Amino acid sequence: MKDAAPQTIHLADYAAYSHLVDSVHLTFRLSPDATRVISRIVFRPNPDAPAQPFFLHGEGLRLISASIDGAPVTPTLTETGLTCDVPDGPFVWETEVEIAPAGNTALEGLYMSNGMYCTQCEAEGFRKITYYPDRPDVMSIFTVRIEGAEPVLLSNGNPVAQGAGFAEWHDPWPKPAYLFALVAGELLAHPGEFTTQSGRKVTLNIWVRPGDEDKCAFGMEALKASMRWDEQVYGREYDLDIFNIVAVDDFNMGAMENKGLNIFNSSCVLASPETSTDANFERIEAIIAHEYFHNWTGNRITCRDWFQLCLKEGLTVYRDSQFTSDVRSAPVKRIEDVIQLRARQFREDNGPLAHPVRPESFVEINNFYTATVYEKGAELIGMLKTLVGDADYARALDLYFERHDGQACTIEDWLKVFEDATGRDLGQFKRWYAQAGTPRLSVTDEFADGRYTLHFSQQTPPTPGQDQKDPRVIPIAVGLLNPNGDEVLPTTVLEMTQASQSFSFDGLATRPIPSILRNFSAPVILERATSNAERAFLLAHDTDPFNRWEAGRALARDGLIRMILEGAAPDTAFLEALQAVARDDSLDPAFRALAMGLPSQDDLAQTLFDMGHTPDPQAIWQALETLKQAMAQHMQDLLPRLYAQYQIEEAYRPDATQTGARALANTALALLSRLDGGAQAQRQYDSAGNMTQQLAAYGCLLTVGKGTAATTAFYEQWKHDRLVIDKWFSLQIACADPAEAVDVTRALTKHPDFTMKNPNRFRATLGALTASPAGFHQATGAGYALLADWLIRLDPLNPQTTARMCSAFETWRRYDAGRQGLIKAQLDRILSTPNLSRDTAEMLGRIRG
Ligand code: PHE
Ligand code: ZN
Repeated sequence: MKDAAPQTIHLADYAAYSHLVDSVHLTFRLSPDATRVISRIVFRPNPDAPAQPFFLHGEGLRLISASIDGAPVTPTLTETGLTCDVPDGPFVWETEVEIAPAGNTALEGLYMSNGMYCTQCEAEGFRKITYYPDRPDVMSIFTVRIEGAEPVLLSNGNPVAQGAGFAEWHDPWPKPAYLFALVAGELLAHPGEFTTQSGRKVTLNIWVRPGDEDKCAFGMEALKASMRWDEQVYGREYDLDIFNIVAVDDFNMGAMENKGLNIFNSSCVLASPETSTDANFERIEAIIAHEYFHNWTGNRITCRDWFQLCLKEGLTVYRDSQFTSDVRSAPVKRIEDVIQLRARQFREDNGPLAHPVRPESFVEINNFYTATVYEKGAELIGMLKTLVGDADYARALDLYFERHDGQACTIEDWLKVFEDATGRDLGQFKRWYAQAGTPRLSVTDEFADGRYTLHFSQQTPPTPGQDQKDPRVIPIAVGLLNPNGDEVLPTTVLEMTQASQSFSFDGLATRPIPSILRNFSAPVILERATSNAERAFLLAHDTDPFNRWEAGRALARDGLIRMILEGAAPDTAFLEALQAVARDDSLDPAFRALAMGLPSQDDLAQTLFDMGHTPDPQAIWQALETLKQAMAQHMQDLLPRLYAQYQIEEAYRPDATQTGARALANTALALLSRLDGGAQAQRQYDSAGNMTQQLAAYGCLLTVGKGTAATTAFYEQWKHDRLVIDKWFSLQIACADPAEAVDVTRALTKHPDFTMKNPNRFRATLGALTASPAGFHQATGAGYALLADWLIRLDPLNPQTTARMCSAFETWRRYDAGRQGLIKAQLDRILSTPNLSRDTAEMLGRIRG
């Protein structure tokens, strides 16, 4: 029975665990409905811990037996674990428990996916496997024996013994339980090998279900590139004899960095040109790097408690973005990251779910794997690096690894390393970790007698539970340009520490044009009254590629807002400036494709709301449609030329060059389709030799209302491939007319291939609806009701995925009273569902306010 109100956990209440764990031995006797887990744990009192009763976490376990030093004991079972009288000194704890992986639909703990056993323990899933101090500051050395009929039996560390029906693994590196993993099944390996910088040979494997073995080559190359990069850039070498990756179809998140045994959502590792888009390839490469990089930032140095999650995640996201910048294009990666940051993190930071990068309390930790912890956490690392410089950043990181290897650390430890390595006081910088909300940075400027001055002021709106905000350190990268386009001040970092602060530049012959917040040097909202002429100038001349893109984006946003609020026509100056960029063959095609993208519906809704207006989702969608039509007409001569120019004759490669060319050609195709009714898109669809081309063409056909035949053909061609069919589900919804999006979604939930048990399929369907604001926010409330129906159905099976999808409602206060009322009714309906999970209850409680 669930009864007691869920407990709130506070950072301030942290206390060390009563015991240290010297070693853990686990035996698994696998069986779908009755797996036995036998544990032998060597405990020793922790001299640094406050006095407390002995407690082990455990949930949903059937206790078969327990003993201390070989003598049977009868522990007291509680809802969340057990307590027991234990000796004062060291002792050996043994238990046997029974669990039922086949019935585990939450995909946390030990579960089954397509007949294979796998685990997911982060954050608190290990307690669903056996009784244990399931907290990241308890680190130990694990030995695992797996007994099962499956041909492949994997766990962490190095293999030590293997025979008919069993395998034994030993991990020499102390680790917290959340990094434990086990996989068993009929799997095939795509093998590889890597020689580390010190000459050790490491066996690599990507394990997949039979049939997927032709989709591993790219992931293997990405893994090797990551291993080399971490040696070269961070001096970090791999530390086991073997590194295994396993692809799993049913997985709540992207992937998991279990020591030596990374487990991936199959969508984040399997890739082939026929079935994956360029964007998929780029994402897979980044996630493989991310999980691999965790071996040092997360595993060798882990988190003391879950409030410190950003210690591993912010740093590891930062590291994987550096990797992508190095192996692809740094400006393109930065622009893509900022688009995502604004779409997900700014949205979170400006709504009811806003929380600090290091939260101070939580009910369910799974609800804090957020864009704020990950992406804003990574931005903080980037700011630190900008503030201290590259050389000091490298010294601080060396010190971090040297000082904290093998430890479970805090943000204080992290900042102290930077203070010690650089002599800087980071007291004020720490506010970035403690204060939620996106700072508004407003700027004015003046020019007199050769002196140019920028006046900045910062202000952060209140967020839930935090009314007052103190000024933060903001690194503001600026450059100055002459009216003729020459740079008179190369990129310079201004360090703002006050609420208001001015910076002057002397000796200028004419009033310069400022390029502010270059490369997006801080995660803030820049507010500056400026002319469209100046934006067009920066779009044409800025030497900072990010700000060049940003100028175009601002121009587009401004024009769209005037179209929405004043019924203005599309801005000709914008169309001209954009065309100039689009036709400039000296610019990277990938950059041009990004420049031709428009602000999202959600971005415009937030902008309107910030300006004091109530956004109308339908009007926003209409303005975007009108502008795209105007772009197509304005560039009607250029588009066919661009399209033809960037067709690729060579064999498919998912690298930055080909990806950029295809992105530009497909951007041209999307506009062209608005002029030719989809004729060119149909030709591309019919002749496509890779998924990037096929899916782009299919999207164009759907958008112009000519997708019916392709919908049938696509399904017939790909019905055997789950990941491709996910695309088929989501694209039909994403490209539907907003008035029909809810009906299309509802119809697809009735398709025989729809299942809510697979998180990818659920997200491909309901998630696609919520990602289409004009469709989801249909004035009738039908979108809200459909989502709520499915959240109510999914919650008892999979609380984690249900709770994440609740964020679709997080922007509800932006909208009109009618929509707010409809959403609130759905929030209340879900909240009144009996036995609602703690995950979903917490999310909806926070959203509802
Ligand atoms: N730690 C994983 C990552 O960032 C994410 C994750 C969290 C996966 C929780 C599963 C469960 O790489
Ligand atoms: Zn991570």
